[in-house]
Order: sequence, then C-alpha cells, then structure tokens
Amino acid sequence: MRIDKFLSHAGFGTRKEVKKLIRSGLVSVNGVVIKNDDAKIDEISDEIMIGDELVNYQKDVYLMMNKPAGYISATEDANEPTVLDLFTKYEGKDIFPVGRLDKDTEGFLLLSNDGDLAHRLLSPKHHVEKEYYVELDHEFDESYIQSIEEGIRLNDEEVCAPAKVCNIQGNSLHLILTEGKFHQVKRMMIACDNEVRYLKRLRMGNLWLDASLESGEYRPLTEEELLLLEGE
Ligand code: URA
Repeated sequence: MRIDKFLSHAGFGTRKEVKKLIRSGLVSVNGVVIKNDDAKIDEISDEIMIGDELVNYQKDVYLMMNKPAGYISATEDANEPTVLDLFTKYEGKDIFPVGRLDKDTEGFLLLSNDGDLAHRLLSPKHHVEKEYYVELDHEFDESYIQSIEEGIRLNDEEVCAPAKVCNIQGNSLHLILTEGKFHQVKRMMIACDNEVRYLKRLRMGNLWLDASLESGEYRPLTEEELLLLEGE
C-alpha cells in the first residue's frame, strides 16, 4: 500500500495533508525517514512512525455507541447534528452508522467502515435480531401479540416479518425484530393502537449494549464481540 493512503486511512488527515506530513520528514518506515509520498509499505509488517508515535494499522473499525436522543444517524446533514459530531477520534476512517436510529431513539448504534458487515447485519435475509426497549403511551394490548408474532400489517402495502414481544410490563415491553423498515417499531405500535413514547435499542445479534457506556459514549468492539454481533 502507498504510505500516503495508509496514513490517510489510519486517520492522519486527507491525502493532501498526509503528503505534507511525509515531505516534512516526520514519517519513518522501519527507522528510515521517507520523504516520497508514493513509497510502498507493508501495512502488516512494517513499523511506521510519525515522530515518535507508532501508527497502528487497523483497516476496519467497529464501534459501539450509546446514541443519545437529538442526533440523526447520518454522516452529514445541513441542519441537524449527526452522530458523527459526537466523535473526536476516527477522522479519516470513513465510518458510518450501520442502520438508522431515529433522532429521538437512544441506545446501541454500531458505526463502522465495513460495508459488507453492514449488509449482513441489516439484510432481512440474514435474520440478525435487533432488540428494543419500548415505552408506550398506554398499556400494551396483549391481544396484538399473535399478529406481531405472525407479522403485523402496517398498511395496504407493508407487512412486517414475524417479530417477538417479551418483558411486557404495563406500558413497556421489549420488541425483537429481524428487519429495519422505516420507523418500524413506532409504526408497529400504531398498528397495535398505541404510540411509542421512548425507544432504546438494547441488542444487535447476540451483542448487548454495554451498560457502562454513558449516553453519547462509544468504544471499539473486541474480536469476540464482533462475532456476537453477527449472531454467532
Ligand atoms: N424503529 C423505530 O421506529 N425507530 C427507530 O429508531 C428504530 C426502530
């Protein structure tokens, strides 16, 4: 890989910025300063330093965020704050939210630069479960459980895949989906003659939101967690 591409991917700025860095003589490969930005490096075995900082190669980034309300799940927006505004690291990594949570929804949001993983997690074909904690306007009517389990109809055109309801306690419940239609939980609850007042995603695949993450905090996933995420 070219050194300028490597440094840019590692989060040290745009190609133009890292070229400047290289020409300034700050970058070394295996102890030798290099000044040409098209130099080739082996990102796995070479030791790349910027000044006295060792640059770690991590191609793919997987981050769990406890999303706060008030941010939209997009990479940029002209009017609204996005979840990427909450990041102070990982610039240049091209991370994006894997799936959307509404502006007012909280909880487990995965951010990554791995488009293949995003597809595997979100495609209804892969049946990766997403579990939500839902608070409702009024007591949940349990006569709707069967339709939810069979696949509730949202309107003339749209029917949901079979879903699970559990932990029903008056106005609150957990809903487990394997797909992500637009405003799905909210629309499912409208189909149950109710209305969502508070929504938080708790789980993706077999991976639960880390309860120690404060609202707005994020952290990288471990290798084991990455497997759990895909339901393994
Ligand atoms: N369903 C919704 O209605 N909103 C979300 O943010 C996620 C699922």
